[in-house]
Amino acid sequence: MKYRPIFITATNTGIGKTYATCRLIETLSHKGLHVGVLKPIETGVKEFPIDGKLLLETAQKYNKKLKNFTCRDVAPVQFLLPASPYVSREGKKIDFKAINLAYEKMLHVSDIVLIEGAGGLMVPVDEKIYMYDFIKKFNAITLLVTHANLGCINDTLLNRKILDSLKVEYQWCINFKENKNSFQTTTLPYYKKIISLQDDIKILSDNLLKLKK
Ligand code: GTP
Ligand code: MG
Repeated sequence: MKYRPIFITATNTGIGKTYATCRLIETLSHKGLHVGVLKPIETGVKEFPIDGKLLLETAQKYNKKLKNFTCRDVAPVQFLLPASPYVSREGKKIDFKAINLAYEKMLHVSDIVLIEGAGGLMVPVDEKIYMYDFIKKFNAITLLVTHANLGCINDTLLNRKILDSLKVEYQWCINFKENKNSFQTTTLPYYKKIISLQDDIKILSDNLLKLKK
């Protein structure tokens, strides 16, 4: 059975997209799904794509059909400069054909493909495209990963506003890398007003799967 892909984005770089994607790989795999992974564009690549490698190795633990896949299959477009694709491509064309082919190859051996964006939603890819355009391009469900530091309410609401304006289906989660304690006093009182909080990745993955069709 094929599910719609999940596009993992975050309020910024370094928030926990790869971390959350790895947790989702584990949870969805334990549900019996064959999970594939894609990092369409990875920048800051020296010897190998760090995210692409971690995603592949995590997925390979569960999806044996990925045995012969390489980092290039997961991260088909790579640039050296650690910056937005618009800048790091240094004027070159983004190879969207390679991205599509990588997605098709991944889908062939998976029930669901998890796609990790680069940076956040408004990261420029080229003259015409922003990172959020990948959501519709892949007809994906979006998972927004937010942080728990001071300022997270603003970051979260801004990102949700963009997702609402795009009229795409999404879920969001908070990655408590740190500050779980201060979060209770600085942020929770507001979130309690607007949402029902749950930080269980199992429930989250159920919700993401339910959004299909
Ligand atoms: P980019 O892809 O570079 O934009 O970053 P990202 O959003 O994928 O962030 P990533 O998941 O790589 O997290 C950044 C760093 O924080 C990594 O070193 C992670 O291992 C670490 N990290 C992220 N989330 C957690 C967490 O919940 N707990 C711990 N201990 N470390 C975390
Ligand atoms: Mg990452």
